[in-house]
Amino acid sequence: MNNTREPFIRCTGLTKIYRKGDQEIIPLSGLNLVIERGAFVSLMGPSGSGKTTLLNLLAGIDSVTSGELWIGTNDVARMSRRQLASWRAHEIGIIFQSYNLVPVLTAYENVELPLLLHNMGKKERAERVMAALETVALVDRADHFPRQLSGGQEQRVAIARAIVADPPLLLADEPTGDLDRASADMVLGLLDTLHRARGRTIVMVTHDPLAASHAERQLHLEKGTLARTVRHGDAEALL
Ligand SMILES: Nc1ncnc2c1ncn2[C@@H]1O[C@H](COP(=O)(O)OP(=O)(O)OP(=O)(O)O)[C@@H](O)[C@H]1O
Ligand SMILES: [Mg+2]
Repeated sequence: MNNTREPFIRCTGLTKIYRKGDQEIIPLSGLNLVIERGAFVSLMGPSGSGKTTLLNLLAGIDSVTSGELWIGTNDVARMSRRQLASWRAHEIGIIFQSYNLVPVLTAYENVELPLLLHNMGKKERAERVMAALETVALVDRADHFPRQLSGGQEQRVAIARAIVADPPLLLADEPTGDLDRASADMVLGLLDTLHRARGRTIVMVTHDPLAASHAERQLHLEKGTLARTVRHGDAEALL
């Protein structure tokens, strides 16, 4: 585990405005936030409070309207689309609520996908894919298609896909939202391991207080700004 805890993600006055005709929607408004390297943070808040928007900005999927966003030494707000795509392939793993696996590809092929953006031979790819499937305990399902897997197994394949390129930052948008309690616990256990044993930085959006309690720090968004932060020791008060 990484104990250095230097700032990793830095948002200063981070603002996102969507414009449609003369209508403006401002899902993020002047957000200030620092997340340390190696932290496990959960992001909670009412529907529409800007959680997914923030995750999309952190992933470089959506563009920053104004303010600063630095991740490590990368000035994310000022990178071109092309730079963002390459940076994302190396630095970010994304896990969605609805898994987003490609239905016509096997578990193995789904996990291999991000590596196709890397300059990597087939043998090394195979080693990486099998190691990622081993981490999520699904080596025996490598040749199965998503429809042949349970929801929990699909989400574990999605986690394998998110970690296969060994990115330092994992972003998860309601990763347990569609799962029963047992599958959700398994997914949260995996995230715990990736955080504790592998030193990954994790930002997880969730509506579930039990899922959020796995994080060291709970951030609460309201109307596009940080309403409050709760550290792990204080978490019981919220449950
Ligand atoms: N591409 C878009 N164009 C216009 N408005 C958008 C777009 N994406 C999000 N919004 C708006 O921004 C606001 C914040 O949306 P966001 O998806 O970030 O909320 P959320 O906190 O993730 O909510 P939920 O808990 O329901 O997932 C909402 O009012 C939403 O309608
Ligand atoms: Mg959302």
